[in-house]
Amino acid sequence: MKIIIGNWKTYLDSPKEAKNLFEKYKILSKKKNVALMLAPSHIHLLSLRSSYKGKSLSFVAQSLGFSGAHTGCISARQIKEAKVDMALVGHSEERARGLDDEGVAKKVQEAYKNKILPIIIVGEHKRDSEAEHYKFVRKQIQSALKYYPANKPLKFIIAYEPVWAVGAAKPPSARDIEMMMIYIRKTLVKLFGDRKGRAVPLIYGGSVNSLSAASILSLQEVSGVLLGRASVDAKELEAIISKIK
Ligand code: 13P
Repeated sequence: MKIIIGNWKTYLDSPKEAKNLFEKYKILSKKKNVALMLAPSHIHLLSLRSSYKGKSLSFVAQSLGFSGAHTGCISARQIKEAKVDMALVGHSEERARGLDDEGVAKKVQEAYKNKILPIIIVGEHKRDSEAEHYKFVRKQIQSALKYYPANKPLKFIIAYEPVWAVGAAKPPSARDIEMMMIYIRKTLVKLFGDRKGRAVPLIYGGSVNSLSAASILSLQEVSGVLLGRASVDAKELEAIISKIK
């Protein structure tokens, strides 16, 4: 079983387009070996969620914020009221609009308080020969989890999305992804101990398509993938799901 998350970003303009693609998601979600999750833009999330009576497809908010005077945001409580139990936290496109590490940590805490599972996105901006990207990702993880109660079960997913691979021509090599995933796993084990640290699902995002999916999905530490462009292309999505062994 692998997790496939479709991050629609703001690719779809009309409710009709969203609804048509959603029908395809519903069909694909019934396949046995996939946990299919959909992150539509906020304006489509509520209508798609409330129209859905099934169980096989899960919904993810693209962001999560706080209740109160926060123009332009969607709050954790609103997400919960809409019967959505997961949210992306710390996507690089949100970080690029000013969200810093402290902001990510507070959002993770807010998700915890509202029983929303955060999909915490980390990833370096660039790679250099000094392996600085490992340290960078470790710091992002430590910081994102600094308000997470260490004595409680760990209910989050870590998505490794190198910023330079988002919207790019191709992802890093499967070997590079694997090395980073092993490093992230070690980081979690150091923070939370062996049993808890090993149970956290790790997923990869950034230029995944039907050509790269098979090698990424076959990596031992990879529990799934986070799709951008491929998530709004029904044929690509279907082809990616077909690569799950
Ligand atoms: P692409 O798959 O289009 O590179 O986007 C990845 C992404 O940002 C998913 O969150």
